[in-house]
This record gives sequence, C-alpha cells and structure tokens, in this order.
Amino acid sequence: MQENNFQVNKHTLKTAISKVEPNKLVTRGYNQKDLIEKIKYGDMIFLILKGRLPSIKESKMFNHVLVSFCDHGVTPPSTQTARIISSSGSSLNSAVAGALLSFGHKHAGAIEKSMELYQSNINSLILTGDADLDNKLIASSAIEIYNAFESRNEKVPGFGHRYHDEDPRAKKLIEMAIKESCVGPHLKLAVSIEDLIYQNKNIKLNVDGANAAILSDLGFSPDLGFGVFMIGRIPGIIAHIHEENMDEDEFRRFCDLEDVVYGGH
Ligand SMILES: CC(C)(COP(=O)(O)OP(=O)(O)OC[C@H]1O[C@@H](n2cnc3c(N)ncnc32)[C@H](O)[C@@H]1OP(=O)(O)O)[C@@H](O)C(=O)NCCC(=O)NCCS
Repeated sequence: MQENNFQVNKHTLKTAISKVEPNKLVTRGYNQKDLIEKIKYGDMIFLILKGRLPSIKESKMFNHVLVSFCDHGVTPPSTQTARIISSSGSSLNSAVAGALLSFGHKHAGAIEKSMELYQSNINSLILTGDADLDNKLIASSAIEIYNAFESRNEKVPGFGHRYHDEDPRAKKLIEMAIKESCVGPHLKLAVSIEDLIYQNKNIKLNVDGANAAILSDLGFSPDLGFGVFMIGRIPGIIAHIHEENMDEDEFRRFCDLEDVVYGGH
C-alpha cells in the first residue's frame, strides 16, 4: 500500500506531527526554521497539540492558561515529591518523573474531570438541537449538574481549594477570558455552576475548573487539557528541584524521628 510516498508495512510508524528529513524538520506543515523565527513558545505548544496555529486571541488566552499553571509553591504533593527525590541525590529526570507520577485524581485530576463534565453537558445540549446555546439554557444545565452532585453527596470537580477561599488565578483567568473575548459555552457553564455553589456553600472556581472551561472553549480534549497542565507545571517543578539542590541540606525528611509515633504492636 502506498501512502504519502512511503511504503507502509508492519514496521511503519505513521505520524502527522513532524516530518524529519536530512537537514530539514517540518512540524504540522511548518518548517521548524520558520517556527523558531516567528512564533512564541505557547503557540508552538498549541500547534503541536492541536495541529494548527492559534488565532491572535487564542494565542493570548492559551498563554494566560500556561502561566497560571506554573507553580503553587511547595504546597502540592508533586513539588514536595520532587524535592524529596532530588535531596536523595537522584537525577533531575528522576525527580521530575516522581513529581509527575504523584498526579492522581486528588491532585491535578480535577482538570480532566471538569473538562469531561463541561464538554459532556455542552455536547448534549448541542445534540438535543439547542445549538444556539443561550445563557438561560446553560443556567438550567448548571442547576441540573449542581443538583446531581448534591444528591450523590459528591464534590463538583474544579471548585474549592485547600488554601484559598477564592483562588486568585481562577478569578484573573475569567477576567482575561472576558478581556480577550474568549468566553464560550463551557466557561459560561462553569460560571453558572459557580454562582450556585457560591450561593449555597461559599465555594468558588479553582484554577483547574477555570482552565478546564477555557481549554474546552479553545477546543482541547480532556486528556490534552491534563497534558497542558503538566506542560505548564514542569518549569515550576524544575525550579524547585534546582533550589533544593542549591540551598537545602541533602536527605530531606517529612519529619524528625521524635515526631514519629509508633502505632503498631
Ligand atoms: C480542593 C478540596 C479538596 C478542598 O477541600 P477543603 O477546603 O478541605 O474543603 P472540605 O473538603 O473540607 O469541604 C468543606 C465543605 O465544602 C464542601 N465542598 C468543598 N468542595 C466542594 C465542591 N467542589 N463541590 C461541592 N461541595 C464542596 C464540602 O462538601 C464540605 O461541606 P460540608 O461542610 O457540608 O461537609 C475540595 O474543595 C475538593 O475536593 N474540590 C473538588 C476537587 C478539585 O477541584 N480539586 C482541585 C483543587 S486545586
């Protein structure tokens, strides 16, 4: 079988991402020499993940998202994991890998879950013929979602934060989405759910919930949204590993021996 002038056989690895030839690299149809000269790093991430360059407003919004994911101090388990691994003398790549492995459904998992929630509800509104999604329709969908979570006694992903009453990143991201004219149905739905949770429980959107809605409006699938979170967070993780190695004693521990309580027999 002939495809794209290449002979396809059982060893063929088909890819639409980059074409590598001697002395030439083409990514998503653009010569990498031109990309190096002309585009910002955020645009390159958008291009490689989505297969097209962002528009000007998408580019600005995507950059705001990436910046907002960069760091949350030493509080998250991933950052602490990275610092502990590094302080034992492990390599940079081991410490970064350890941080990424600590992401689970309780840490960083909310973004994918929120995206699934927003996208499945907006898609079902579109499928039922309500293509012209007005605010009233989105608000009634928000009520259904909120009531469904309440009746199951479950927390709505993307809302609440262990440290912040109001996550400053979420508030700013919504402001930026309004400023860049990037408010689509998913962000409208997230804000409608926030109105209900805030009225009833005084709880607001967190960075994951806001970015889940914004990335959904930018056309990202939930798995890519989680990918964008990791891309955004890796610079912060590397900075913490570097700082740990430069400034801290080796062999970091959670606590000293006198703080350990033996509860066994
Ligand atoms: C992030 C989180 C763990 C913070 O928890 P916390 O500040 O310790 O708050 P608690 O779990 O003690 O909850 C306090 C109250 O608010 C409610 N609540 C907290 N987050 C809620 C949410 N997302 N949806 C609905 N109710 C929520 C709890 O049910 C609890 O109610 P109660 O007092 O009637 O039992 C929690 O808000 C959560 O699980 N959120 C959803 C997952 C998420 O988005 N995680 C990413 C965080 S960046």
